[in-house]
Amino acid sequence: MKRLSPDLWVPFLFILSLYFIPAISTATSRDIPKGQMIFEQRCAACHGFNAKGSYPMSKTLKVDPLVLDLTKPGTTHRSMVELQAVVSNGHYKMPKHREALTPRQIRAVVKYLRSLQTSLAYRSPR
Ligand code: HEC
Repeated sequence: MKRLSPDLWVPFLFILSLYFIPAISTATSRDIPKGQMIFEQRCAACHGFNAKGSYPMSKTLKVDPLVLDLTKPGTTHRSMVELQAVVSNGHYKMPKHREALTPRQIRAVVKYLRSLQTSLAYRSPR
């Protein structure tokens, strides 16, 4: 078998390295679409696709509609860790998700929630 010419090694290694770029550089940005899928499947029924809360669901659950709005200041001011804890352990009528979702999935869905909050959060006119 003919040995690969040294002149071919450099381009070969260069092209090989391109294969790994997506795996390295987008490990975190890929959490957004993954989190979006989880949010739309498991959270939107109560919290709405835009995280502003589902009014009909607030009637069903007998809670104030604002409780389901995750873009209110009371919720946007919470840290990532606090949000992950609520999703994992549940709270009052909010179901716990630690059996349905892995810690990584919970991080992804909270990251997506945060992206909704920062694009939709109510800003006071002042
Ligand atoms: C069955 C309806 C329902 C589903 C499904 C649901 N939630 Fe909730 N969620 C609630 C209710 C009700 C509350 C308010 C709980 C309380 O009174 O403390 C809440 C509270 C929260 C809070 C805390 C808000 C705050 O200000 O403290 C976060 C964060 C949250 N939900 C995220 C999620 C995420 C993420 C998902 C999907 C993985 C999800 N929820 C699925 C009903 C739901």
